[in-house]
Amino acid sequence: MASSVLILLVGFFIWAHGVGGFGEALMEESEILGLYEVMGCLLDDPSWGSMHPQPCTETPWPGLQCEISPVPLLFHVTKIHIGPDIVYPPCKLNATLSMSLQSLPFLKTLSLFNCFTSSQVSLSPSLFGTFSYLEHLALESNPSLVGQIPSSLSNVTTLRVLSLSQNNLQGEIPKMLGGLVNLEQLDLSFNNLSGEIPQEIGRLKSLTILDLGWNGLEGQLPSSLGQLSLLQKIDLSYNKLTGEIPEELGSLKRLVLLDLSHNLLKGPIPNSFSSLEQLEYLLMDNNPLRTVVPLFLGTLNRLTTLSFSNCGLIGPIPVAISSMQNLTALSLDNNNLNGSVPPNLESLPLLDHLNLSHNQLGGELLFSQEFIERLGNRLDVRANLGLCTKHQLDNIVNISMTSETAHCLDASRARNNQTCEENPDDLQKIEPPHKSSNSSSSNDASNLNREMVVLAFEFFVFTLILM
Ligand SMILES: *[C@@H]1O[C@H](CO)[C@@H](O)[C@H](O)[C@H]1NC(C)=O
Ligand SMILES: *[C@@H]1O[C@H](CO)[C@@H](O)[C@H](O)[C@H]1NC(C)=O
Ligand SMILES: *[C@@H]1O[C@H](CO)[C@@H](O)[C@H](O)[C@H]1NC(C)=O
Ligand SMILES: *[C@@H]1O[C@H](CO)[C@@H](O)[C@H](O)[C@H]1NC(C)=O
Ligand SMILES: *[C@@H]1O[C@H](CO)[C@@H](O)[C@H](O)[C@H]1NC(C)=O
Ligand SMILES: *[C@@H]1O[C@H](CO)[C@@H](O)[C@H](O)[C@H]1NC(C)=O
Ligand SMILES: *[C@@H]1O[C@H](CO)[C@@H](O)[C@H](O)[C@H]1NC(C)=O
Ligand SMILES: *[C@@H]1O[C@H](CO)[C@@H](O)[C@H](O)[C@H]1NC(C)=O
Ligand SMILES: *[C@@H]1O[C@H](CO)[C@@H](O)[C@H](O)[C@H]1NC(C)=O
Repeated sequence: MASSVLILLVGFFIWAHGVGGFGEALMEESEILGLYEVMGCLLDDPSWGSMHPQPCTETPWPGLQCEISPVPLLFHVTKIHIGPDIVYPPCKLNATLSMSLQSLPFLKTLSLFNCFTSSQVSLSPSLFGTFSYLEHLALESNPSLVGQIPSSLSNVTTLRVLSLSQNNLQGEIPKMLGGLVNLEQLDLSFNNLSGEIPQEIGRLKSLTILDLGWNGLEGQLPSSLGQLSLLQKIDLSYNKLTGEIPEELGSLKRLVLLDLSHNLLKGPIPNSFSSLEQLEYLLMDNNPLRTVVPLFLGTLNRLTTLSFSNCGLIGPIPVAISSMQNLTALSLDNNNLNGSVPPNLESLPLLDHLNLSHNQLGGELLFSQEFIERLGNRLDVRANLGLCTKHQLDNIVNISMTSETAHCLDASRARNNQTCEENPDDLQKIEPPHKSSNSSSSNDASNLNREMVVLAFEFFVFTLILM
């Protein structure tokens, strides 16, 4: 296809000569003038053009790449890149995207990082009509890149990577972007996009990475996401998405990461998720799911990180969780989970972070001292008023305040065998004693009372109540 286009170029006026290792290689005049115009609008160096009279050969610039076409022998600009690795000359304060980009029809890559930082620039709809080869468009970390994503971008059907992350774009995601059928990566994260995620996103059949996190997106998750069978990563975190999680997501057999955290999604977790065989990261924190921890999670044996903090979860922690042999981090804090802590969590060989704090868990915490020491301050079971342990945890030197666990009397010292069974609400009403009390005093059984139970939240008091 490239050569058929190139044939059309025969007879164009020849402007520049390159006589490097490629022999007699030339550039079309419109292309090099267009390049100077584009660079002049970006870079804070008016002499860039005169410093680089033959930018594809004799006088290269590291942010620029060219490719040579054989017949006719011509150089074409295929890549313009300004980023952390290409800092000189810097972008000028009033940098803009010149319409002369249209004179560079052979561009494959345009990537500008941190270039538009002070005067506002927007993406002109007419900018994207002429690219026939553009595969990689990355305009990232440009705080003064504002306005909407033009739907004319959908004309650039050659795009494989579209990243407009960390700009100040607003408005809706154009439905027409669904026409980018070759798109493999779509990253619009960290903008101010609003409206719904269009159903048309289901047309992006080549997509492997979808990142729309940190925007103001609303409405339901489109069920059409389930058609994107190559997806490996979905990050929709930090939006305002509502409704239930569509069952169709369960058909994403290659999904490795699913981050829906910090939204307004409701439960349940669809049973279809049990077929997400490749899933390693499931992050649902801060959604009002108000559902139970699904039993099938135990079948997702590639999961390494499972995070359901502050999701209004109810019911028990299923024992089945302990069959996820690759689990390294489990966060179920800030929920309404009740029942006991499955002791076989400790048998998970890689488990290194366990946060069960702020729930209504009860009973005796049956972890071994070795396990508690291994996790140290990465074990957090605070604020579960019914939870007890018999371990003398104050002997563990490195245990931190966050793993301060126990608030149950040791059986031998217990005065009140009932404490663990009392209503946690009653306990909460009791003011903690003054902080000057120290742990040694709790060895005196006669001092033990329900106040000591509360005290244990703040100090290393581990001579505690048995249920
Ligand atoms: C951009 O700023 C330079 C000075 O830094 C000035 O000479 C030039 O006219 C400005 N261009 C535009 C389009 O405002
Ligand atoms: C580009 O897209 C716009 C709408 O998105 C359309 O109206 C226009 O005809 C397209 N241009 C080309 C050259 O395909
Ligand atoms: C984001 O966009 C909304 C309108 O959609 C606007 O009210 C708000 O100020 C914008 N926020 C920022 C940080 O630009
Ligand atoms: C744990 O992860 C490794 C590497 O990702 C994988 O090969 C292995 O099959 C996983 N274990 C299980 C039980 O799936
Ligand atoms: C857990 O809470 C539910 C209500 O949310 C209740 O029906 C159940 O009996 C409780 N289970 C335990 C072990 O306390
Ligand atoms: C556990 O979660 C709570 C919030 O629910 C948080 O404050 C605490 O730092 C977490 N602990 C660990 C060890 O991550
Ligand atoms: C406590 O932890 C530090 C590093 O975090 C380590 O150097 C030290 O040996 C540990 N002490 C004990 C008694 O485990
Ligand atoms: C605590 O109560 C249980 C029955 O609820 C009883 O079996 C046990 O002996 C009691 N322990 C003590 C130390 O009183
Ligand atoms: C705490 O213990 C120290 C010595 O271990 C003792 O001097 C002090 O009086 C105790 N304070 C209280 C309030 O019991």
